[in-house]
Amino acid sequence: MKREQWNSQLGFLLAAVGSAIGLGNIWRFSYMAYDYGGGAFLIPYIVALLTAGIPLLILEFAVGHERIGSAPLAYAKINRRWEWLGWWAVTFVMFGIVLYYMVIISWCLNYFFLSFSLGWGDDPDSYFFKTFLEVSSGPSEIGDVKFPILAGLVVIWFINWAILYRGVQRGVELANKIFMPLLFALTAILVLWSLTLDGAMTGIKAYLTPDFSKISKPQVWIDAYSQIFFTLSLGFGIMIAYASYLPSKTNITKNALLTAFINSGFSIFAGFAVFSVLGFMAVSQGKDISEVVSQSIGLAFVAYPKAVSLMPGGNLFGAIFFLCLVVAGISSSISIIEAFTAAMVDKFAVRREIFITVICLIGFLGSIMFTTQAGLFWLDIVDHFLTHYGLIVVGIAECVLVGWFFKLNVVREHLNKISSIKLGLWWDILIKYFVPLVLVITLIWDLSKELKEPYGGYSWASLISIGVDWILLTLIAAFAIASRPWKTGHRETGGRSGG
Ligand code: PHE
Repeated sequence: MKREQWNSQLGFLLAAVGSAIGLGNIWRFSYMAYDYGGGAFLIPYIVALLTAGIPLLILEFAVGHERIGSAPLAYAKINRRWEWLGWWAVTFVMFGIVLYYMVIISWCLNYFFLSFSLGWGDDPDSYFFKTFLEVSSGPSEIGDVKFPILAGLVVIWFINWAILYRGVQRGVELANKIFMPLLFALTAILVLWSLTLDGAMTGIKAYLTPDFSKISKPQVWIDAYSQIFFTLSLGFGIMIAYASYLPSKTNITKNALLTAFINSGFSIFAGFAVFSVLGFMAVSQGKDISEVVSQSIGLAFVAYPKAVSLMPGGNLFGAIFFLCLVVAGISSSISIIEAFTAAMVDKFAVRREIFITVICLIGFLGSIMFTTQAGLFWLDIVDHFLTHYGLIVVGIAECVLVGWFFKLNVVREHLNKISSIKLGLWWDILIKYFVPLVLVITLIWDLSKELKEPYGGYSWASLISIGVDWILLTLIAAFAIASRPWKTGHRETGGRSGG
């Protein structure tokens, strides 16, 4: 079977950008900037981007391109014993992150419709937690499925299925060619509009004025590194799969730099819309800007609705905002399912259309857990464990595998032959020593915090039964799949530069 390919380099770039720009860019980034000293947060953020984000993104593109395979295939071609690592990355994303990510997109879709009638009423805080989510007393009290969330979920999974079913070129590439310009245009409207609000400048000042006292804390640096990881979709096996669909002559390093800068540029740009609105809120309620948001999800689902209700023409503003989140979210969620599908096609020669249908159905069923009244707790716990430990461990393993068990200079020479921006020895040093070191420090820091005090005030029983088990089960599944024989001849074929 011939490997699928992108129609154009631009199509590939937009798909990579589509994966990178997601829910994380709009509220995760803004919330961190809000919490961590405004403009000062940009320093650790940019340092993390340059020292870990870009080098690793280049590495993932390179591995997928040179080895011509999804994560498990690419790793298996490097060293048979490491195939599990690729499976683990694509499994915990497919059976973890994507399940709750879809549910958050469903919230956004609901809020898109609610915007038109300002359906959250006078008290968006109570609406969100008590009416919309109807949060139960704790993770073990499951309660009922919330119907509007379930209905939104059906729609979102269906859209994902419909895009993926059409394949790489006519599905993923085409969708991103429509979604990305749409997202940029809508975001530009939001930014310009929000700048005209009373108090916008108060918000912008808070955004851009650096509070350097905050960035002396190690936690801020650790969080900046994890945000870069999350936002560039690294450690998910996504960028590897996407790069494997490129033709042999492709300007890899240029595309990596463009992906990284467009993604971060988008976050910083969207931050203007978020902060202007916060400034508007602060001024119209006579509060200080530091008092208007209390939690990160509160930023999108409480503070924003509040502001929308207060501003003239707010309905439309709110609708555009939530539509942006939906579009940004879907272009990321399809990339996860694609990464898993690519892996299954590579290994078991499954028929794409049938497989996509089955996996979307299974995924939908798995997501239902997060639409229950305990969904918010589950989401919080699974997200914490997968993004803090899963991603970081894959990142470390990836650097060790490619940096130490493979000839990194072969990869670098391969890239330099086809790319306009050449890599020097500095890249080898970052991948072999610096990035793994930073990630190991992050891991130890997180673990020691974890052991001192259970995350989020949950009981140890819930954390272990939900979070730790999720990690272990996906790991076991990864080893199980890796132990099955290859149904295709791909593994024997090596990479583009031989070996
Ligand atoms: N980069 C995405 C974001 O910032 C993260 C992500 C990618 C999450 C793919 C899930 C799947 O939201």
